[in-house]
Parts: sequence; C-alpha cells; structure tokens
Amino acid sequence: MTKAIAHPNIALVKYWGKQDKPGNLPATPSLSITLDGLVTETVLADAATDRFVINGQQQQDAKVADFLTTLRQSHAVPPLEIVTINNFPTGAGLASSASGFAALMTAINTHCQLGLNSDLISEWARQGSASAARSVYGGFVNLAPPLWRASPAASTNHWPLNVVIAITSEEKKAVGSTEGMRRTPATSPFYDAWEQGAAEDYTTASNAIARRDFSALAGVAELSCLKMHSIMLTSTPTLSYWNPSTVACMDEVRRMRAAGIATFFTIDAGPQVKAVCLPDSVAQVRSALSEVPGVLATHVCALGGAARVLD
Ligand code: PMV
Repeated sequence: MTKAIAHPNIALVKYWGKQDKPGNLPATPSLSITLDGLVTETVLADAATDRFVINGQQQQDAKVADFLTTLRQSHAVPPLEIVTINNFPTGAGLASSASGFAALMTAINTHCQLGLNSDLISEWARQGSASAARSVYGGFVNLAPPLWRASPAASTNHWPLNVVIAITSEEKKAVGSTEGMRRTPATSPFYDAWEQGAAEDYTTASNAIARRDFSALAGVAELSCLKMHSIMLTSTPTLSYWNPSTVACMDEVRRMRAAGIATFFTIDAGPQVKAVCLPDSVAQVRSALSEVPGVLATHVCALGGAARVLD
C-alpha cells in the first residue's frame, strides 16, 4: 500500500488549448502557485482489476483509464485499486484533476518502483491533465517550452502570498477542460490573439514574481484570466463558467484594490473566485468576500509544497 498527497495549483498565467501533437502538451506557457490547505490524498493497493474510488464513490473515469493505458505502454504497472479523497469540491473549478494526477503519479512511482525523478513524474502527470504537471512542485511553478515539464520558478519563502477562495457553487462543471479545449481553438474568433499574447504575459508575470512586484503581477494575472474567459465565452457553443456571484466577487476585489488593499482575482474553468493577497490583506479580503451575495464559503490558503509520498 502506498499513500501520496498533492495540492491543487492555480495558474496566474493560464493555458487553454493544446498543441496538435501527442503528449497532452499545452499550446501556451503557464505559471501557477501551489496551494496548501486543499489536499488530494491517494492510496494505492494491488488489485485483481483496476478500481477507482473518489470520496467513497466508485468512478468510471475515462481520463484515469486512458492515463493508465498510456503509462503501461512504457512501465510495468499492475492492476491497481486507487482510493482518492479530496478535502474540497471535486470537478468544480478548484483544480482537483491537477492535484489528482500529481498525487496518483507520485504514488505509482513509489508503489511500482519506477524510479522516476520529479521531472519525469511531472511529465507523466501532464499526460493525465496538463495542469497536474505543475502540482508536482510547490511554490511558484512554470510549465513552458521547450520541454513542457513543469519546473519550480520560485520557492514558497521567496514571496509567501495567500489566496482567499470564494466558493460560489459546489456543482460539477457542465463542460470539462478536455472538451472545452477542443471547442475554443476550433470556434473562438479570438483564439489566435490569445496564443500570440501568452508568451509576453508569461514573461511579465515571471519578472513580477522575481521582483515581488504585486501590482505588476495583479495586472498581468487578471488580464490573462479575462483573456481566457473571453475565448471561452466566444466559443460556440459558449463556455460560460461564471454565475452572478462570481461577477460580484470580481467587482469586490477590484473595489478593494482601488482602495489600496493588495489583492487580485483569478478564476479557472468554474465559478469560484480566487483572490490572491499579500498576507496583511487576508483578513479584510476574506471578510469582504464572505459578505458578497451567493458566496457559500471562503477558504484561506498559503502557498503549498510539492507532491509527496507519506509513510
Ligand atoms: O490541465 P487541465 O485539463 O486541468 O486544465 C486546466 C485549465 C485551467 O485551469 C483553466 C488553466 C490552467 O492553466 O490551469
């Protein structure tokens, strides 16, 4: 039996769209922060056939099945019972697939004695879900060319940011990222502009993190988020992940920043709003977002560590 944990990550410079070649490669570079507090724990045991259970419910999960099939083309991986627990809503825009595949690949590496280093664990986790490549590492993490393996950009201690997560719905999203990333490149009239602007956003954010320049990071992270949602919204059929409370939270974050409180928002493929803050701003940001109509709960995270096997 082997137990591993991993944390979700949220991208400050997003990717949305894949390269037209094997390996589940993103079309654009991305840069994320790994969150503590939210945890995926995965326990593996040998079994007669593969079995996958999340939070006590057996799943028929095509992504996990495909991932195991691909991995078994290169490595000896016996049939496995995979029991996963998330301490946060699954499939609701909180990056459960990122922490899920990072925890799964970390556990498989030890359980099956594959002997892979973090680079290769990250490369395999990417095959399951590209954002999972980033959850193999803690702190600030890049996923960029030419190798498209994630790599650490800065440690947690370099700049100990916090994130207030406003939960506005616990429902599973209607359209997942795999289908969404097929639809957007094929239909959004703005997709080419998105691809062309990504490298510059990535460089701007990397420099802002190196300098700990909060206002520069706020500007580029909100821009990257809004550009991604613009290409989602202009897909056919539209990909609309926000609800009225999502929009009200964005307005509240903008109001706070205009009043001198160090915070900015980012939103993934779901309705939750993540307000990134300097530690001094956390209490005010949490209290303000808790008051926004439709906010069901708030969680505060610090930056989290790498995926790891537990004894
Ligand atoms: O890699 P996936 O399939 O989990 O998709 C991640 C997509 C976003 O979270 C919206 C953006 C990102 O870069 O994480």
